[in-house]
Amino acid sequence: MIIASVSENQNLEKRISITPEIAKKYISLGLEVLLPLGYGNHLGIKDKEYEKVGTKILKDEKEIISSANIIVQLSFPNDDKISLIKESQTLVGVLDSYNNEERIKALVKKKINVFSLELLPRITRAQSMDILSSQANLAGYKAVIESFANFEKAIPMMMTAAGTIPAAKVLVVGAGVAGLQAIATAKRMGAIVFATDVRMASKEQVESLGGKFLTVEGAENLETEGGYAKEASEDFKKKQEELLGETLKKIDIVICTALIPGRKAPIIIKDTMIQNMQPGSIIYDLAAIQGGNTAFTSADKIVDKNGVKIMGESNILNKLPISSSNLYAKNVFNFVSNLYDKEKNKININLEDEIIEKTLIK
Ligand code: NAI
Repeated sequence: MIIASVSENQNLEKRISITPEIAKKYISLGLEVLLPLGYGNHLGIKDKEYEKVGTKILKDEKEIISSANIIVQLSFPNDDKISLIKESQTLVGVLDSYNNEERIKALVKKKINVFSLELLPRITRAQSMDILSSQANLAGYKAVIESFANFEKAIPMMMTAAGTIPAAKVLVVGAGVAGLQAIATAKRMGAIVFATDVRMASKEQVESLGGKFLTVEGAENLETEGGYAKEASEDFKKKQEELLGETLKKIDIVICTALIPGRKAPIIIKDTMIQNMQPGSIIYDLAAIQGGNTAFTSADKIVDKNGVKIMGESNILNKLPISSSNLYAKNVFNFVSNLYDKEKNKININLEDEIIEKTLIK
């Protein structure tokens, strides 16, 4: 059995799916690893490091794709590469199955086994494979670092003989994995942190990190069985708007993370709210790629509205590609180990396994 990965479009994606450490693990598991020349060069990982652990490096990506049994990637490969994948080969990645429905269906029709890891169920057994959590956690951390770097005031309270600087006030909108890491990071830097979410379960988690939870009065808990957020009702949205409108007048930095799987991100920070914010404030929108949580978010741009800077990137993980690749590669390895039957040396698509059943596109 051969597992392989080919280069991503590095203008959009700097992460990689197989690190030398993980190549070694695949080989110990009994798989052969194939990678193209210079696969990790842009991250400072030399081919030699892969070769040292037994990886085979090939020049021709076409040859790699056609000889692999399992191909592991980040995003959906381009048409040239995809067209080379044939029946009974297996493709694993974060294929954005909601937005690439037609392209994925074409692969399924060709009897290619397609697994998309954003569909992993949030169950205990899948935690070591949970790419959404490992990547969102890093994104939450980096969003705070980016916004603080653009903020033209200090973050912690400083009392010196020369005078006092007040602590910056941070609001985190959406307290899922990214939001909770954003709260923890902002707290460590000395900010006063507030957070809000539609899922009441997050209140306790926010408070345990030292954040103050802003509850939308009279709101029902908008949580699905799977632990995700439901679309909020008009009444909820109105109450949330009133609460945030008042709060934002005093907030210096907003970190937005509110997402609803498979949908456009809800617009939570409206035009009028931004107008009432203090000039010099920053909004970092982690939902930018799904349309954004603010009225003005534009991915990969810093939009200035009366002195309030609104920023967000299409792939913030490109700013810490080494840490995010290390975790992603481990997650994928754990997923593949669960899929691979070592004794029979084949992929075992056991549809009674919830992890396999939920991630396989049918
Ligand atoms: P996500 O990335 O889909 O959304 C981010 C956050 O935004 C969520 O907390 C969501 O409730 C919130 N949100 C959505 N609409 C909003 C609105 N209009 N206003 C305010 N907040 C809004 O969520 P993520 O981070 O992937 O977490 C989803 C769930 O999965 C959570 O319940 C989390 O605790 C759970 N989880 C479970 C794991 C497990 O293995 N058991 C592992 C990781 C997460």
